[in-house]
Amino acid sequence: MSRLTGGTLSIDVGGTGIKGMVLNPQGEPLNDKVRIRTPRPADPAAILKVIAKLTKTQPDFRRISIGFPGVVQYGVISSAPNLDGDWAGVPLAERVRQLTGKPCRVANDADMQGYGAIEGSGVEMVLTLGTGMGSAVFSNGHLVPNLELGHHPCADGLTYEQLVGKAARKTCGNASWNQRVKLVIDLVRRIWNPRVLYIGGGNVKHLTFALPHNVRTVANVAGIIGGICLWEDEDH
Ligand code: BGC
Repeated sequence: MSRLTGGTLSIDVGGTGIKGMVLNPQGEPLNDKVRIRTPRPADPAAILKVIAKLTKTQPDFRRISIGFPGVVQYGVISSAPNLDGDWAGVPLAERVRQLTGKPCRVANDADMQGYGAIEGSGVEMVLTLGTGMGSAVFSNGHLVPNLELGHHPCADGLTYEQLVGKAARKTCGNASWNQRVKLVIDLVRRIWNPRVLYIGGGNVKHLTFALPHNVRTVANVAGIIGGICLWEDEDH
């Protein structure tokens, strides 16, 4: 456990907003969340510019955590389906370190959200309902990084993300989107048998049906709070 004190600036890069706040060593917020609209096109240069801007409006911090909407391995981006431009191979953690002079760790956004939500016992899963559909799986608090359920075929020739992502909700309307989310939750519970399934992301507010006993919604802020855990896990 680190004896260093000082804040961790935790940033969640989303398809519509880039949010950040500084956390104390216990993972508690030290300021109100700041949100900047995701620039379009959301290419690496544009996103780095927003991250640099965000760092200038925050209380003192000594390191940075980023939740990123794509596959991330050891700080390097492999995919970013809902952003623009060429992200494959971008060493985001290193770029942010160069830009700010502070150490930086980057994880998939659903993985980071999971860190902010889980209890650390048994199999726990997370689905995020935002621009895309994020997914994460933990066993006794240990993450299996980069579960990309969103791009797996689900029903009617559509992937999970094509069924319940933001674009789908806009096209099919709330009632049928809720039916689709119900189907996704049923499938995930039957296939993975999680002890608890957490549902996060900006579209949670549109859910209208009663969730099964072991399915809980989590506040969006979990995506940022989870940033503290990237420094406790060697994988990042
Ligand atoms: C990406 C995931 C991400 C999710 C939510 C999906 O399109 O492939 O990596 O977690 O969107 O942002």
